[in-house]
Amino acid sequence: MSDFASYPSLKGRSVFISGGGSGIGAELVTQFCAQGARVAFIDVAEEASQALVETIGRAGHPAPVFINCDVTDIDALRAAIVQAEAAHGGIDVLVNNAANDQRHKLAELTPDDWTRITDVNVRHQLFAIQAVSEGMRRRRHGSIINFSSVTWLKGTPGLPVYVASKAAVVGLTRAMARELGPDGIRVNVILPGWIMTERQVRLWLTPEGEARLMQNQCIPEKLYPPDVARMALFLAADDSRLITGQSLVVDGGAT
Ligand SMILES: NC(=O)c1ccc[n+]([C@@H]2O[C@H](COP(=O)([O-])OP(=O)(O)OC[C@H]3O[C@@H](n4cnc5c(N)ncnc54)[C@H](O)[C@@H]3O)[C@@H](O)[C@H]2O)c1
Repeated sequence: MSDFASYPSLKGRSVFISGGGSGIGAELVTQFCAQGARVAFIDVAEEASQALVETIGRAGHPAPVFINCDVTDIDALRAAIVQAEAAHGGIDVLVNNAANDQRHKLAELTPDDWTRITDVNVRHQLFAIQAVSEGMRRRRHGSIINFSSVTWLKGTPGLPVYVASKAAVVGLTRAMARELGPDGIRVNVILPGWIMTERQVRLWLTPEGEARLMQNQCIPEKLYPPDVARMALFLAADDSRLITGQSLVVDGGAT
C-alpha cells in the first residue's frame, strides 16, 4: 500500500498531458492512471511513449491513450485534443508539461531561434488552454496545470529564451485564472526545482552541481519526478477546489 494520497475525485476524469512520454511527464501519466483517471498524452518520442503505455497496462491500471503529436504544430495539437475527447469525453484536467531545456548561447541566438524555443516552451500552452476551455466552460468545471520552472526566479544563465518562456507561463497562468475563474475553471502553475529525470542526470548532473544543489536546498535531498507529479494530482483533484492562479514551487526549498 502506498503512503501517498488517493483522490476519489480523479477517478474517471478525462486528463490530457503534453510531453507525457518521458521524464516528469511519464510520471504524471503513470500517477494519473493509478488514480483511475482516463489519460491521453501526446509526445514526439514514439518508442518511449509506446513502452509507457504497455508498462501501465501491465500494472493493471486503465492504459492511457498515446497520440504522436508535436506541440509546436498547433493544428496537430488541436486535433490531438479532439481525439482525446472522443476517447475519454471532455477534458477535465489539462497538464501543459512539454518543453525543451536545450542550452543556447546569447551571442548566437537568431530571431528564428527565439520563435523555435518559445514555440516549444510556451506557445502551445496557450493554444491547449484555448482548445479545452470551451468544453470546460460548458461543464463549469476544469483544472489546468501549467509547467514553469524555478530558473526564471533564479535567473539561471545559459538558456535565456527557455527562462523567458517559463516566466511567460506564469503570466499566462495568472491571466487565464482570472479569465476562466468565473466559469469554474482553475489554472495553476508548478515551478519544479532541479528534478532528477533520466535526461537531467545524463546531460547535466555533475558531482559539483549536486553538492551546490544540496547546499542551496533547505532539505538536502534530491527531488525525483514523483515529488512533482504528486503536486499535480493535488491541483487536479477537487481537494484544491479553490486554489487558482497560484505558483507552486517544488524544489526542496532551494529558492
Ligand atoms: N527536470 C527538471 O529539473 C525541471 C526543472 C524545472 C522545470 N521543469 C519543467 O518540467 C516539465 C517536464 O520536464 P522534464 O525534465 O520531464 O523534461 P524532459 O525533456 O525530460 O521531457 C519532456 C517531454 O516532452 C517531450 N517533448 C519535447 N518536445 C516536444 C514537442 N515538440 N512535442 C511534443 N512533445 C515534446 C519530450 O519527448 C519528453 O518526453 C517541463 O515543462 C520542464 O520545463 C523540469
